[in-house]
Amino acid sequence: MSPIDLRSDTVTRPSPAMRQAMAEAVVGDDVYGDDPTVRRLERKAAELLGKEAALYLTSGTMGNLVALLTHCTRGDAAILGANSHILNYEGGGLSALGGILAIAADDSTGVIDPEDVRHHCRPPNVHFAPAKLLCLENTHNRCGGLALSPEQMAPAASAAQEQGLAVHLDGARLFNAAVAWGRQAKEYGALVDSVQICLSKGLGAPMGSLLCGTDEFVDRARFWRKRVGGGLRQAGVVAAAGLYALEHNIERLRMDHELAVLLAAALGKGGLAVEENPKGTNMIYFAVPAAKTDALCHRCAQRGVLISAAAPGRIRLVTHCDISKEGAEEAGQILLEEARAL
Ligand SMILES: Cc1ncc(COP(=O)(O)O)c(C=O)c1O
Repeated sequence: MSPIDLRSDTVTRPSPAMRQAMAEAVVGDDVYGDDPTVRRLERKAAELLGKEAALYLTSGTMGNLVALLTHCTRGDAAILGANSHILNYEGGGLSALGGILAIAADDSTGVIDPEDVRHHCRPPNVHFAPAKLLCLENTHNRCGGLALSPEQMAPAASAAQEQGLAVHLDGARLFNAAVAWGRQAKEYGALVDSVQICLSKGLGAPMGSLLCGTDEFVDRARFWRKRVGGGLRQAGVVAAAGLYALEHNIERLRMDHELAVLLAAALGKGGLAVEENPKGTNMIYFAVPAAKTDALCHRCAQRGVLISAAAPGRIRLVTHCDISKEGAEEAGQILLEEARAL
């Protein structure tokens, strides 16, 4: 029996209908601009985000990296949330490959205070690396999968833009945020200069991200994608899965959120210290004694429930399209039993 895999929404497998779309994809050499399926996917993403253009890339990490390389030059500074994915989990690519200085701002509430943005911009001065970019994240992974409304994101974005900075949104799970708030993705797109969305998370595609922005920005980003080795040839085979995901899998994210609410309630009722979330999506975080974190993961795995630790003492569960209500209930039961037995 296959395990109930709650480690991430990246573990989803393409559905039969998605595989069918992949098998039937019309393809060409995308580096020559000849792949009609990639072109359709890029147009569709640009339309959903309300941007002029979009660029298909292999991963969210590459999408964010290419955005940073396109917005900044060596020696520039980018302001990022201290808890952001870009700062914590993308291998320091912005510094390693872009020579970009990362300035960490407090984002413990999921947003960056506009005062902090202004403070980190700093005036032109030989002592300061010039800040060129603010990066935001929505939903915010380390902040519990928190969904921000456009109104909550706007103050930081406009504070940066007033100081002449560009704003990039790491929207790996932006559609989760949009669905949670009942808003259009383009309402978020309107606040920022560029946005990266992932197809390979809750949307269920096997790979791929899109970086959206103006025509001019995307042309330059295409050049950076090639430079980092990300130009693809008959990519329509995988782009077809992404197109299928954008056409069929956005609204169903609501079901993942509902499942997360049910699972969180069951775990809380069973005595686990589940974190509160003012606007949760498909993630549940709960606390366990730090020294027992690995043991819990291990014991659950032995019983067919895969979970992962975000940090010692902090477990994260993620619901997605390959988790049924019965699977979530069974996983909750096993988790509670194993947590009690620790
Ligand atoms: C918020 C956020 N941004 C970016 C990424 C990177 O995406 P990828 O794993 O496709 O590189 C992730 C991955 O989980 C993420 O959670």
